[in-house]
Formats: sequence, C-alpha cells, structure tokens
Amino acid sequence: MILLWVRMMCDRYSHQPMAQPSVHSSGPGANLSAAYFEARYQILREPLGFPPSAAKLPDDDAAIHAWIEMDRVEPEEDMMVVAVGRIHLIPADSTGACADTDDENAAHCPDFLPLGSHGFSDVSGNDFPTPEALRPAVQIRQMGTLENHQRKGFAAIVLANLESEAVTLWGKCTGFLQARVHAIPFYESQNWTCFGEEYMVEGIGLHRSMWKPLNVPLGPDSLVQSRTEGEE
Ligand SMILES: CC(C)(COP(=O)(O)OP(=O)(O)OC[C@H]1O[C@@H](n2cnc3c(N)ncnc32)[C@H](O)[C@@H]1OP(=O)(O)O)[C@@H](O)C(=O)NCCC(=O)NCCS
Repeated sequence: MILLWVRMMCDRYSHQPMAQPSVHSSGPGANLSAAYFEARYQILREPLGFPPSAAKLPDDDAAIHAWIEMDRVEPEEDMMVVAVGRIHLIPADSTGACADTDDENAAHCPDFLPLGSHGFSDVSGNDFPTPEALRPAVQIRQMGTLENHQRKGFAAIVLANLESEAVTLWGKCTGFLQARVHAIPFYESQNWTCFGEEYMVEGIGLHRSMWKPLNVPLGPDSLVQSRTEGEE
C-alpha cells in the first residue's frame, strides 16, 4: 500500500524531479522542525496577519502531530513541509474552550457543548451520546496544506494519520474540531459531521463545530510512516 501511494505521488509530481512526498507523525513530546512551523505559519497564520510567534501553540508538546514532507528542488538535499495537522486530548475537566494563541488579545475558541450536557444532535440527526460516553475526547487543530499543493489528498492523509494515532494512544475516542466554514467540505469528505450553529472566532472568521467517533486505527499496511521521538 505504501509503495502504491509513493508511486502515485511520484506520478503526480513527475514534472518536479526529486519531489517525493512522505507522511510522518510524532508526539506527544514531538521534536518538531522549523519547516513544520514554517508551513503552519504560511498556511494558517500569515494570511490572517498574525505574527510568526502565533505559529506555535502553548500545548503543542501535548499533541500528536502529522505532516507531509517533500524534497525541495532548490536547495538540493533540503526538505519542505507541505501539509500539517495536530490532535490533542481534551482534558477531562474541560469542554474544549481555549485561547487560540498565547497572546494577550488571543481569539477565543468556544466549548463543544455536547461535552458539557446531554440532548444535542448533529446536522444529520444523530443524537450525541452522554458527555461521559464521549470521553476520551480529542480535538483536531491547525490542519492545512500549502496553497499550491492543495487537492492532492495531502490533508486527507494527515487527518487519517492523526485519527489513527489518537486511537492507538488514547483508545476508542470522540473527535471534535472547529472548522473554518470554507474547510467544511474537506472535513465532510472525511466523514466528519457538523453540529450547532455557525460562530465567529474573532480575527479568524466564521466557524462551525464538527465531530466524528474514532475507533479504528490504521492497519500496518496503511499509509502511516511514523517517526518516533528523537529520530531524524
Ligand atoms: C481545507 C484544506 C486543509 C484541505 O486540504 P487539501 O490537502 O487540499 O485537501 P485534500 O486534497 O486532502 O482533499 C480531500 C477531499 O476533501 C474535499 N475538499 C478539499 N478541499 C475542498 C474545497 N476547497 N472545496 C470542496 N471540497 C474540498 C474534496 O472532496 C477532496 O477530494 P478531491 O480533491 O478528490 O475532490 C486546505 O484547503 C487548506 O489548507 N485551507 C486553508 C487552511 C484551512 O482553512 N485549514 C482548515 C482550518 S479548520
């Protein structure tokens, strides 16, 4: 399966010699490269006018990260990160609300209400289980693909890796995320479902919450090429 995927990607990039994408994941306690944060900043923060310091989140160390690397054409033997994402465990005493960054004036991301009380349904009419049954709950954040590398399946691979790594580490769990509205079709294509009304996250834009029960880790013949702590 890995060989098939690598071959497929080589075909897609055959006009760009040396560009061979590979998927990696690491964490908690990941040793993340400057290239990872460069990509995150370029995709998610710079377009909104945030300073480079906003590329790092205070709890990055507690999250599992996944990303796709490709060789740069110039300079040779250097690599770049073209797609990123992370997933973290929502603490048992939290229903997901957090500040977006460390800054004093950081945007505020609201709670996931089904983690606080029972009686909610999603847009497909599925009733949420009780808050207790939704735990462990995990949250996807900072998903993105560089603009000139979009629609090649990269974010889908990153997301599948994060979901799988979460199940491996935390067991059967419930995924939550706050999607920028233009990203909803992407998450829907990966079987995530919207719930609740749209809301504004100040400085970022309109969002909608989404969820997905997570219970199946990817098999050993999957697309995961995991990098453990300390490996180059
Ligand atoms: C949303 C985003 C991460 C998708 O990344 P991507 O690598 O292009 O996504 P993929 O190629 O894996 O897409 C998989 C599927 O999702 C759907 N999809 C992805 N982008 C879409 C779009 N703009 N419109 C409609 N469907 C889309 C498609 O079904 C696609 O499959 P297809 O290309 O075979 O039709 C990317 O557009 C992005 O980085 N946007 C800017 C940052 C951002 O908003 N991040 C999300 C924050 S919540």
